[in-house]
Parts: sequence; C-alpha cells; structure tokens
Amino acid sequence: MDFKLENKTALVTGASGGIGSAIAVVLASAEAKVYVHYNKNSQKADEVVSEIESNGGMAVAISGDITDSKSRDSIISQIIDESENLHILVNNAGVNQEGLFIRQKDADMDFVFGTNLFGLMNLTRLAVKHMMKNRYGRIINISSPAATAGSPAQTLYSASKAALHGLSKSLALELGSRNITSNVVIPGIINTKMLDDITDERREFFISRIPMGRFGEPEEVAYAVRFLASDEARYISGCELTVTGGGAVF
Ligand SMILES: NC(=O)c1ccc[n+]([C@@H]2O[C@H](COP(=O)([O-])OP(=O)(O)OC[C@H]3O[C@@H](n4cnc5c(N)ncnc54)[C@H](OP(=O)(O)O)[C@@H]3O)[C@@H](O)[C@H]2O)c1
Repeated sequence: MDFKLENKTALVTGASGGIGSAIAVVLASAEAKVYVHYNKNSQKADEVVSEIESNGGMAVAISGDITDSKSRDSIISQIIDESENLHILVNNAGVNQEGLFIRQKDADMDFVFGTNLFGLMNLTRLAVKHMMKNRYGRIINISSPAATAGSPAQTLYSASKAALHGLSKSLALELGSRNITSNVVIPGIINTKMLDDITDERREFFISRIPMGRFGEPEEVAYAVRFLASDEARYISGCELTVTGGGAVF
C-alpha cells in the first residue's frame, strides 16, 4: 500500500488558496500530474507549480472562473487536449459571504451558490463525461462542518455546502458501475489566511471546542484527499471523511 497516483491526471480547483495549494502539492508528491487551478491569483498558482516542479513533480497552472461556462469548458478541454484523461477532480474552490440571513441579497445568493454549487456541478458534469468514457474517476468535494451543523451568519455558505453532500452521494450511486467514486472531505478549522483576522478570544473559543486542542493544517486535509484519490480507496464511495481534530467543531 503506497497511495501512489502515478499516471493519473488531477485537477484541483482553487489551488491558489490555502487548502487547495496543499492538496495540489500532496497529490503531485504522490506522482499525479496536477492541474493547479486558479481564478485570479496567478502568482500563487505559479508558486505552487514551481514548488511541485522543484520537488520533481508535474504541474500545470490553469485559470478560469468556475461560474462562467466558457471558462469551465476551456479548463476541461485544455486538460483533455494536453493530457488525454482526467482521473481525479478535487472540487475545492469555494467562497463565503458572511452576514445575517435577513440581510443577504439576491446577488449574495448568486455569488455563493453560483460558485460553491452551480459552478462546481457544471464543472463536474464536464469532467464526468470523460471519466465515464475512461471507466475511471475520483471526485472529491471539499465541504465544511457548517454543511451539517449549520453556522450563524454563514447561512448561504452552509446551505451551499450541504447541497454538495446530496450531490456527492447521488453521484456515488449513479457512477459506481463506471468505476467512479464520489466522496466528501470535511475540513474543520484549518490554519489558512482566513484565520488571520480573528480575535484571540475567538481563537481560544474555537480551540476549546477541538478535542486535539489545535487548528488543522492544510496538509492534513490534503492527506485525506490523497487517500480518497488513491487506488487503495477504490471501494469507498458516497462517504464523508471529517478532518476536524476529533470534533464537530461548531
Ligand atoms: N479554511 C478553512 O478553515 C476551511 C474549513 C472548512 C472548509 N473549507 C473549504 O475548503 C475550501 C478551500 O478553502 P480555503 O480556506 O483554502 O479558501 P481560500 O484560500 O479562500 O481559496 C479559495 C480558492 O477558490 C478560488 N475561487 C474562488 N472563487 C472562484 C471562482 N469563481 N472560480 C474559480 N475559483 C474560484 C480562489 O481562486 P483565486 O484566489 O485564484 O481567485 C482560491 O483558489 C473551500 O471550499 C472552503 O469552503 C475551508
């Protein structure tokens, strides 16, 4: 058992972000060729590609707004043109829009659902067409504890993430016969720049709710993704893997 991903092509959306960049680096260290997707932050994507290449891995930066249909088409067609197959899709790109529910506007709903759900579903549909032809695929959706526990002032975010669970389980049922697995990874509170602005008091409160007494590291989420992407996880589909340090977090 080595959880290697040699001869596999992976797309990690939002790989210019805190968790996505770690997932890209970890999948590449398992020998996958990784498409390091970004929307606006090309500099960070280039840094991730350089890091992977300096470790002897294979990576390509690829851009696109997943809320835009032309961008989604071009992401998938570039990968298929260059690499022939797409074996692993990690749907990691995501946005949040904090605020009390009654203050949320139509545009806020469009923003959060357009990215976290509709963009993700449309991109996944394009990827699945190729996976079905290949009779091989790994779909890994990055959710949040807010999906099942709820989170005040994060109603749109938690509702959009909750929908991912239904999507993921339904895909597991529909695609199992094609040797395609579909799973969810649920990171707890992870040390990313999202935490830069929280007060010491809030930090202490969160840590007091985590049995392991600390926030998670992006690599710790990435190792769960690597496992679910591996051949060793071939019989695991429709599952939810929590990476929360032992607790429900909220
Ligand atoms: N951080 C945590 O503690 C935590 C906990 C639970 C779950 N999560 C989930 O884990 C995932 C990654 O979180 P993170 O903290 O690493 O986020 P992050 O650093 O804010 O990164 C978000 C990523 O999504 C991309 N993105 C945003 N809108 C996009 C769009 N319209 N089209 C394409 N890409 C888009 C961004 O691209 P650019 O920057 O290039 O524009 C960026 O790469 C998210 O799904 C989040 O909900 C995070």
